[in-house]
Amino acid sequence: MIDSTDHGWWRRAVIYQVYLRSFVDGDGDGVGDIDGLRGRLPYLRDLGVDAIWINPWYRTPMVDGGYDVADYRDIDPLFGTLADAEALLVEAHEHGLRVLVDLVPNHTSDRHAWFQTALSSAPGDPSRARYWFRPGAGPGGDLPPNDWRSVFGGPAWTRVTERDGRAGEWYLHLFAPGQPDLKWDNPEVPAEFELILRFWLDRGVDGFRIDVAHGLLKDPALPDLGERPSTVATAGHPYWDRDEVPALYTAWRRVAEDYADARVFVAEAWIDDPHRLARYLEPGRLHTAFNFDFLFCSWEPGRLREVIERTLRAHQAVGAPVTWVLSNHDVVRHVTRYGRCETSMREARRQYGAPVDLELGTRRARAAALLMFALPGGAYIYQGEELGLGEVEDLPEHSLRDPAWERSGHTARGRDGCRVPLPWSGTEAPFGFTAADTAPWLPQPAAWKSLTAEAQAGDPYSMWALYRAALCIRREHPALGDGELAWDEVVDDVLSFTRQPGLRCLTNFGVDPIPLPDHTEVLLASGPLHTRRLLPPDTTAWLSGSQR
Ligand code: NOJ
Repeated sequence: MIDSTDHGWWRRAVIYQVYLRSFVDGDGDGVGDIDGLRGRLPYLRDLGVDAIWINPWYRTPMVDGGYDVADYRDIDPLFGTLADAEALLVEAHEHGLRVLVDLVPNHTSDRHAWFQTALSSAPGDPSRARYWFRPGAGPGGDLPPNDWRSVFGGPAWTRVTERDGRAGEWYLHLFAPGQPDLKWDNPEVPAEFELILRFWLDRGVDGFRIDVAHGLLKDPALPDLGERPSTVATAGHPYWDRDEVPALYTAWRRVAEDYADARVFVAEAWIDDPHRLARYLEPGRLHTAFNFDFLFCSWEPGRLREVIERTLRAHQAVGAPVTWVLSNHDVVRHVTRYGRCETSMREARRQYGAPVDLELGTRRARAAALLMFALPGGAYIYQGEELGLGEVEDLPEHSLRDPAWERSGHTARGRDGCRVPLPWSGTEAPFGFTAADTAPWLPQPAAWKSLTAEAQAGDPYSMWALYRAALCIRREHPALGDGELAWDEVVDDVLSFTRQPGLRCLTNFGVDPIPLPDHTEVLLASGPLHTRRLLPPDTTAWLSGSQR
């Protein structure tokens, strides 16, 4: 059972991201679902995570993997029923696992009742004021109201056909046309979302991951973007991280605080400046926010140290714990990123499909996991990273579902490569993901036969065994989780820090083994240490009894 008196659980939690469509299929239709997840709760408990975050499971036409919500109070039939979701919450709690669900406040689906009403109403009707409807520019209003681009490619505006059959107003969608942006300065919108929060909190969810948390407000003047980047938040940007956005969340925090046990938020906010990100975490606002700088960073000690330091500083200033993450359903899996010469996430998109040294990537991914779990704060695991899965970059074009593929005119393959269904057991696809005679919704590589959960459970040196051991130590060791770190002065190419009481974490980024400092015990290492006195390249060790 979960301990509902533990009000600080989220300051140190390790949370496992369940991308439901690809986790495990309970009804044999080739798509993962709630029933499948219910059956694997013991797997997650045994792995040793504290909680799970489930990607959107609401009713959806599935234009963007469920991030296009048609009804926030119901489950999509593809995933199950509301009763299944309620049963999952009870069972997860029985296994000691808390549950966060994904909330999508920036936009609805175009099939949402609000948008359908807006479409069937005339321009100027109050139902249109919940979204960004605008007349077009140019003669006849034939041009979009401004030059904003959709994150998935193409214009961020789509023109509607009015009731009289004529081409009419345009509406804003920062993502796909099936994801119209809500107008958060209309009081009806925040009021509705507070009710949605309560709907799920009443059913026992322990928190929410907030999709596009930094995008809710737009500059009402809708100025052209010109040369500014369309995906990165920069000061004064007309739609990312507007100054007034963080304060919107005080109302959400108040809703969460109405519940006696700690219900929490984690913001998905792609903001480069950690001090701007920390504004979302000021007292009375959100509890946590993903630190994407760490995820984007290349495998280089100097840069990583810089990111870690500046992130810790910015979070300490507002009293919030840092949330570390290496992968998620939107980025190239880190085994693949780290297996190339250029290891940053930005390069990973540019180098899509280029050769990868998977052995190197896996060694670094193991080292990165121990580094991450030793840092102060909480951490997220993206499903499959505990199995060491890499990005699947050779999916056949006809199988690609990410809207970015079509919207980019088939130039960006999108994010399907990190969303391939998990391999559970056996030696052939579908590897226990779905019924043996069913094709999973995305094809799995044959090479995954050595990476199944079944194969790894019996191997003490597997990635799964490393994750399990790390999480087990993390639960027990008083130095790990929330708190502070002190850097140890060591040679270049090595990151070394100490957490009190008495745990030292060292990662060797160089090409030669380095001597380990004196210590009494190696608590865990991401790879073999041979003589126990040398730390090989791309390896992390956790030591106890080491003098600084
Ligand atoms: C972020 C989500 O993680 C991503 O998958 C989605 O496409 C966009 N937000 C739009 O909702």
